[in-house]
Amino acid sequence: MNAFAHDLAEAAPIVLRADNVGVTFDGAGRPVEAIRKVDFELRRGETLAIVGPSGCGKSTLFNAIAGLLRPTRGHVEVGGRRVDDAAGHVGYMLQKDLLLPWRSVLDNVMLGLEIRKTPKPRAREIALELIRTYGLSGFEHAKPAALSGGMRQRVAIMRTLAFDPEVILLDEPFSALDFQTRLLMQADVSRVIAERGKSAILVTHDIGEAIAMADRVLMLSARPATVQSMLVIDLPRANCDPAGLRTAPKFQEYFAKIWADLEKPGGLG
Ligand SMILES: Nc1ncnc2c1ncn2[C@@H]1O[C@H](COP(=O)(O)OP(=O)(O)OP(=O)(O)O)[C@@H](O)[C@H]1O
Ligand SMILES: [Mg+2]
Repeated sequence: MNAFAHDLAEAAPIVLRADNVGVTFDGAGRPVEAIRKVDFELRRGETLAIVGPSGCGKSTLFNAIAGLLRPTRGHVEVGGRRVDDAAGHVGYMLQKDLLLPWRSVLDNVMLGLEIRKTPKPRAREIALELIRTYGLSGFEHAKPAALSGGMRQRVAIMRTLAFDPEVILLDEPFSALDFQTRLLMQADVSRVIAERGKSAILVTHDIGEAIAMADRVLMLSARPATVQSMLVIDLPRANCDPAGLRTAPKFQEYFAKIWADLEKPGGLG
């Protein structure tokens, strides 16, 4: 069974809505239009992948969703409220890592809770529970440098989960990992998201990753970003190992379709 059965898709409440979002940067006197017009909805329990050519405005879109940047046009709603006054509903795992090197695993997981002023004993309890659940017991006091790439990634996702956000934003979360670890982490993070009943948006350059993890894939055009197409991914995912998933005929059909639709940099493809 897919983590997000498509017959439930219509029934699940909408948790996030991007409505006519446009972003233009000042760019030292010369305006840079990063996003022209992006609209989409995310339902509870759903994972949406966003793919698009490099520099098309994906991280900018995430910054707008997280409330770090106010769109020039349109708005984003989380839980029916504009992000301006819904701070804290979104957990953001940044494109560039990640952990504070001088803090232990435990202190890194507690970071978001501290920022939200959760009392320290409670924050510690939540963090230790996550560390136990996700298999890093014994590393609570280790510094990030002593961990493998996959373990660091797991700490980063725990930190994102710790304050129990409604929606998790993952900006190329696995791009720094070796291939094997990446496939294992995709399965791992998908499982965690499904277990916790979270909704997620994943930005990735990796078409296989989008198909492996998402219920729908949103394709953006080259900058300035517009929605080019939306593809529903209907694959049986639970109990499916990364190789099994990738050899499914449907997986390959989806791959070919996304590859064909994706705008290529000038002169290629
Ligand atoms: N603060 C800023 N000021 C001016 N221009 C910016 C700013 N931030 C981003 N841009 C520009 O907006 C465009 C979109 O950038 P963004 O980082 O969102 O792209 P991206 O799709 O995430 O790229 P990548 O796939 O390489 O991560 C780029 O042309 C970038 O140079
Ligand atoms: Mg980016």
